[in-house]
Amino acid sequence: MLVINLKSYIETIGKGGSELLEAAEKVAEEYGINIVIAPQFTDIYLLAKNAKKVKIFAQHIDPIEPGAYTGYILPEAVKEAGAVGTLINHSEKPMKIIDIEKAINIARRLGLITIVCANDEIVGAAVAKLNPDYVAVEPPELIGTGISVSTAKPEIVINSVKMIKEVNPNVKVLVGAGISNREDVKKALEYGAEGVLLASAVTKAKNFYEKIKELAEGFIR
Ligand code: G3P
Repeated sequence: MLVINLKSYIETIGKGGSELLEAAEKVAEEYGINIVIAPQFTDIYLLAKNAKKVKIFAQHIDPIEPGAYTGYILPEAVKEAGAVGTLINHSEKPMKIIDIEKAINIARRLGLITIVCANDEIVGAAVAKLNPDYVAVEPPELIGTGISVSTAKPEIVINSVKMIKEVNPNVKVLVGAGISNREDVKKALEYGAEGVLLASAVTKAKNFYEKIKELAEGFIR
């Protein structure tokens, strides 16, 4: 699975996000790989309406029940907008462990797929116990650097897969941070990850289609 997090990048809000979706749809069709896009909340509805093969996720949900919570992200609302899953505990939107657990449980009740992020393999193994669908390990110091975790720190990928699977073999393992090209994806999969989570390599690309296609090629054995 190739997860593209659009974060708060200006290039991929509104029209840019729609162009990125169009490129991702083309690649998903051509290569038959699972692609997820996590846009700004305000773009979930539009992208989900136009998505075919590509899945639209939220970047975060708050562990709240419907009611008087101004400014919070209600899980039911992202689902209603068309999201089929959500990131939880991204290092740029960290949560307390108790809230991670609540968010996973609410998402499960609503049928939203969960990707819980972790800064390292130890935290990855800890959150795997909470039974999310995926754990994504991303060393924060490599995020946005273009230096890939799978190339610069392969031991993080290897240890994450080992430790997370030991704790909970049902959890699928993703890795991210700095993943930029075909080789980075290939290595992540070689070391046992089941997919990658990335952002800037795509959001900052001159040509979304060419970049997503290159990354998709990393999945071809
Ligand atoms: O969520 C993806 C992420 O934090 C990695 O960002 O820009 O290094 O691919 P980037």
